[in-house]
Amino acid sequence: MSVRSIRVLPDPILRQKAKRVANIDNSVQRLIDDMVDTMRAASGVGLAAPQIGIPLRVAVIEIPGEDVIVLVNPEMLKRHGERLVQEGCLSIPGYQGEVKRSVSVKVRAQDRNGKVIRIRGEGLLAQALEHEIDHLNGILYIDRIEQPEKLWKVAAKVEEEGC
Ligand code: NI
Repeated sequence: MSVRSIRVLPDPILRQKAKRVANIDNSVQRLIDDMVDTMRAASGVGLAAPQIGIPLRVAVIEIPGEDVIVLVNPEMLKRHGERLVQEGCLSIPGYQGEVKRSVSVKVRAQDRNGKVIRIRGEGLLAQALEHEIDHLNGILYIDRIEQPEKLWKVAAKVEEEGC
């Protein structure tokens, strides 16, 4: 297991649509382990594989105090409601913004053993699920910012809520 370096804008891999994982083999298991290590080292709540340079549909989420969620080939099934939230991203250091996210979401994915799982998330988990699935489609939270003044600079320490 190792901590990998996080790609930041304007790295073009962040804008690619990631590919589905066909087989969850040893290399994917290693990737998942490295993503968890990298997310924790960066004090992030989530990380998508393209952020470490791997264009595959894999993401990890760790809401403080809860178990790590591994998402392979995640799909958004349902979104409900709308709320304004503050958001940051490990690939856009030094910034934060205000975006509209869902109140709750339902996601289907495979876990690290290939088992199909369904997750219903609210609050920060819903936000992280939307943020990570966006990453797999080459979308960043700044794309969802409606007015320029809704994006602002923050001190380096504050961006540690990113995904
Ligand atoms: Ni992010």
